[in-house]
Amino acid sequence: MLASASTLTARLVVLGAAAGGGYPQWNCRCGVCRLAWDGDPRVAPRTQSSVAVTGDGASYTLLNASPDLGQQIRATPALWPREGMRDSPIGAVVLTNGDIDHVAGLLSLRERQPFRLVALAPVHAALDANPMFGVLQGGVVERIVARPGEIIETTPGVRIALSPIPGKVPLYREGDEPEIGVETGETAGVFGSAAAMRFAYVPGCAALTDPLIGWLSNSDVVLFDGTLFDDDEMIRAEVGSKTGRRMGHVPISGPGGSLDVLGRLGVRRTIYVHLNNTNPILIEGSPERRCVERAGIEVAYDGMEILP
Ligand code: MLT
Ligand code: MN
Ligand code: ZN
Repeated sequence: MLASASTLTARLVVLGAAAGGGYPQWNCRCGVCRLAWDGDPRVAPRTQSSVAVTGDGASYTLLNASPDLGQQIRATPALWPREGMRDSPIGAVVLTNGDIDHVAGLLSLRERQPFRLVALAPVHAALDANPMFGVLQGGVVERIVARPGEIIETTPGVRIALSPIPGKVPLYREGDEPEIGVETGETAGVFGSAAAMRFAYVPGCAALTDPLIGWLSNSDVVLFDGTLFDDDEMIRAEVGSKTGRRMGHVPISGPGGSLDVLGRLGVRRTIYVHLNNTNPILIEGSPERRCVERAGIEVAYDGMEILP
């Protein structure tokens, strides 16, 4: 099994398809989480938001580092150490923002293993403001501050650019009135290629602007923010007081929602990722799931592989 890893070609692997908290969330019995706790066959548990991408079938770039990274590596043989005493196919980690569900996994990569850590300047600054992430320094981890739109080869055959998209600062850096939808580099999309496969990875996005729609249209595969189906879903489920838009996530449905736009992109595959545990598209056969599928959009699950 391990020997065959190097014969695989370019691909993306969804390591975790859920938003922060995962699915089901440890402390939640909302209508959707309850199905998972009860073992309903229409739903599958999902870990928190991350994707692995390879251009050569041997080395991998992680797109975000989830708090569930240890579990995700154990579930993915291609990410296991291959040779010698200490080794990892993970050669780089790219961060789309500084949210806890996207950076906490870095703390699980602290065992003196070299890799490249690529992010825009505001995301590096968020890490630098927390002394715990100092464990990634000391000449072991190469910190690469990407310029917006700069093309970087992260691992062999994987080229990415981080471009600012509408978003906000991480929840733990919000003041009283955070600006939502700013394009300051706190939130980025990953636009890249694995060998010849062009992909876009956008797990958090406050609004679909014209430039962003253009970048998405230029991809073969789009993995896009599917946090909430309805903007007020968490309020109606009585698990929170915020709308999706207030959290910096454009909802799937409704005017200005992502479904209208993504359904008309004309790309080969469009897949919703970063699914919040309240989102009814997690339920196979639900009206919301069927609505998304009718638009030709897929719903990510852990272990989903996307080949050229
Ligand atoms: C988000 O995607 O909005 C964040 O993961 C929220 C959080 O940090 O809990
Ligand atoms: Mn998140
Ligand atoms: Zn829930």
